[in-house]
Amino acid sequence: MSPQTLAEFAQAAERRLDPAVWAWLSGGAGNEHTLRANVQAWQRLPLWPRMLKPLVGGHTRIHLAGRELVHPILLAPVALQQLVHPDGEWASALAAAAQGAGFILSTQSSVALERVAEAVLADPGRGPLWFQLYWQADRGFNQALAQRAEAAGYEAIVLTVDAPVQGVRDRERQAGFALPAGVRVVHLQDAPATPHADGTYCAGIPAAAPTWDDVAWLQAHTQLPVWLKGVLHPLDARQARQLNVAGLIVSNHGGRTLDGAPATAAALPLVRAAVGDGLPLVVDGGIRRGTDVLKAIALGADAVAIGRPMLWALAAGGAQGVARLIRLLRDELEMALALTGCRTLADVNPGLLAPAAGPPGNAP
Ligand code: FNR
Ligand code: LAC
Repeated sequence: MSPQTLAEFAQAAERRLDPAVWAWLSGGAGNEHTLRANVQAWQRLPLWPRMLKPLVGGHTRIHLAGRELVHPILLAPVALQQLVHPDGEWASALAAAAQGAGFILSTQSSVALERVAEAVLADPGRGPLWFQLYWQADRGFNQALAQRAEAAGYEAIVLTVDAPVQGVRDRERQAGFALPAGVRVVHLQDAPATPHADGTYCAGIPAAAPTWDDVAWLQAHTQLPVWLKGVLHPLDARQARQLNVAGLIVSNHGGRTLDGAPATAAALPLVRAAVGDGLPLVVDGGIRRGTDVLKAIALGADAVAIGRPMLWALAAGGAQGVARLIRLLRDELEMALALTGCRTLADVNPGLLAPAAGPPGNAP
């Protein structure tokens, strides 16, 4: 039977995948505290049901980056998707477009950005298509990559700032993970050599660690809006806001960089408080249920992104699997909305997580 929950997609994927690839995608950094905390933090937040409110005409639509989306679910940038399915990022992007979900292509994609864009741009129901940038030591190379994405039709650059070095990734090391022949980081084949490269596939990242100056430089050298991904601390969020970034992805890289970093559910409300209402926030890390999506919106996110679940579905069923997974999460979100008495996501508020006993007559 086909998977009915995100967890069942995980089981189906684990059965199919090579154990080393499974370790690569499932693992986090260090003792994996942050990896577990991400999932548990959403689970532990109570969600208060509300009764007897008018629900007819309800929907999950949101506004993000100047457009209306049918639901608030994006696919996070995830490297090397051909490791789990021969169609790789092409299939995930196709599924995202078919389901109206935003798609963020990784710099470390195994399929060229132009091929991905060609597959989805003509779909009128698609969500936003963004390119995730891992900063490279050579500024000109970054500019060229951003221009390439722009020319291909990408609508924003998402600069990932939480991985200047790779985390301590014991699980994949112990499993003997190595990049198989035939799967390549296609965009970095002709990148200028990075100092301190150590021979692992993530080695392109280290010595090129970007700074706030580089963020401003990038904004000045691309026509596209620049988002930052991997901001957790409220002070970093405030600094990003001062630079007029287009938005933030509140993320700890799915627990794969700094172990011990707080769960994104814990950081999100602090980030929202630090930046105020106007700045778009997407949150990722441990989102596994429609109720998690609802909680994220209640804590101040405009939308959520999912990483590993996309890989599970891709491994289990290619593009169709990913499309089914997105639909499933969206259906769960619709049910959660109805059961919390919300007609739309605009009705979702922090009071669903921690009700205050207001004075009589002071609904909602
Ligand atoms: C990632 N992530 C990531 N982020 C990024 O900016 N560029 C990348 O290339 C990758 N690659 C990548 C590979 C794998 C195997 C994983 C699991 C994650 C992080 C990703 O975008 C996202 O932040 C997390 O995956 C979100 O957490 P969940 O949904 O996996 O719990
Ligand atoms: C990872 C790098 C590619 O998390 O972002 O595996």
